[in-house]
Amino acid sequence: MGCPAHHTTQAARMPLYGEEFAADPGAVYDRLRAYGPAAPVELAPGVEATLVTEHESALRVLQSPALFARDSRRWKALAEGRVALDSPVLPMMVYRPNCLFTDGTEHLRLRKAVTDSLGRLNVNRLGRDVERIADYLLDQFSERGMADLLNDYAKLLPLLLFNQLFGCPAGIGDRLTANMAAIFDGQDVMRANEELTACLMELVALKRRQPGNDITSWLVEHPSGLNDEELKDQLVMLMGAGVEPERNLIGNALLLLLSADSSTGRSGMRVEDAIDQVLWNNPPIANYATHFPVQDVELGGVPLPADTPVVISFAGANTDPALTEAHQVLSKGAHLAWGAGPHACPAKDPAQLIALTAIERLLNALPDLTLAVPQGSLRWRPGPFHRALVALPVRFSPTPGLRTAAARPVTASQPATVPPARTQTASSSGGTAPAKQKGWWSSFLDVFRL
Ligand code: HEM
Repeated sequence: MGCPAHHTTQAARMPLYGEEFAADPGAVYDRLRAYGPAAPVELAPGVEATLVTEHESALRVLQSPALFARDSRRWKALAEGRVALDSPVLPMMVYRPNCLFTDGTEHLRLRKAVTDSLGRLNVNRLGRDVERIADYLLDQFSERGMADLLNDYAKLLPLLLFNQLFGCPAGIGDRLTANMAAIFDGQDVMRANEELTACLMELVALKRRQPGNDITSWLVEHPSGLNDEELKDQLVMLMGAGVEPERNLIGNALLLLLSADSSTGRSGMRVEDAIDQVLWNNPPIANYATHFPVQDVELGGVPLPADTPVVISFAGANTDPALTEAHQVLSKGAHLAWGAGPHACPAKDPAQLIALTAIERLLNALPDLTLAVPQGSLRWRPGPFHRALVALPVRFSPTPGLRTAAARPVTASQPATVPPARTQTASSSGGTAPAKQKGWWSSFLDVFRL
């Protein structure tokens, strides 16, 4: 049999969508390694790309911005109409004027505004904010003795935290949470996207008038002088880049911690170690960082034609057989879960603090937490980019809530899984119109009287 790299026909492309890939991505990366450092894949039906699975080659691409651009307006197949405009992967790939899709000086300008603003976060305050949101969410289900930790906890915590970090008043925050959740769940995405844009523009206008101690105001004040559209685009990107991976870091680490390998039903692992292991072996962003070679290039013998998508498999690179186990232990940070090069995640430290605090708070509040279903029956969400559980059902001894649940966002009989749909219209003064029904953010504000 000849080298599979020389048979890159449509039929040979490995699909990175569907249940088979979601059930066992590791087996797919192993098969792709037969092609060499990079292999032909399909990200969605008809969307062709090359996936880099070798650690060394992944670093080479990530660290060579002159040869591998991020601006997806270069994408030839899209420009030539060979990609369906309703393809589910397009929202993660089409050009937007934000850090992720820009190169050179434009990227530097936008990234500086983002990194300087994130750099103003106070670590102690961030920890306290996470604890308060964690307590609030725990109160929604601790008396039930059972919960779906992914949808009742890991999904909502980062959404509510971003409301706090962005300095959202009640009305804007409820709409932001509901519409962002709808986008992630693929529900009425176009309408949700319009709503999201509208409420972020309101937030920007509000912070221009009344700046506060929050990321939105710091971006507004930043010397790079972002205009309203640019501000909105960086806020969308921050939420998009932050919420989904944070949810999955918390979910995947909880699964590891709850995986029974002892009579207690717990793995007995430290939370920090579980987070590290997830970042190495099950990174929340499994495959992303789409690059477009500016000219025809060869990567370890694999041809990469100009202006075709080259995607980095962070998961594949981290589990590259060339990296020994000692590598994981001795060079903790050598994994690529945070990316590398000019687009590496600027929120690595806060993101780890958020996950650590959220998990510790939960385990301390519900010490006898165990999985409610056999581990093998858990399902993973299909899709090429993320590594995400569908649900994480658990049980525990019912525990009285820490605070009154007077301000519950949904009726008591309704499980707290899906944030309520848009519940109110923001007034022109920044979203303070009276609520018809409480959303997650306004009920959180009520409980904590913020
Ligand atoms: C578990 C949580 C997180 C993980 C695993 C993660 C991972 C990553 C990775 C792999 C990249 C590189 C993407 C690429 O090269 O295209 C990235 C970029 C980025 N991340 Fe994170 N991230 C996390 C949380 C966050 C949070 C909480 C924020 C915001 C507060 C954030 C903001 C960003 C931004 C702005 C970029 C783009 C940087 C650029 O293109 O210059 N991330 N992240």
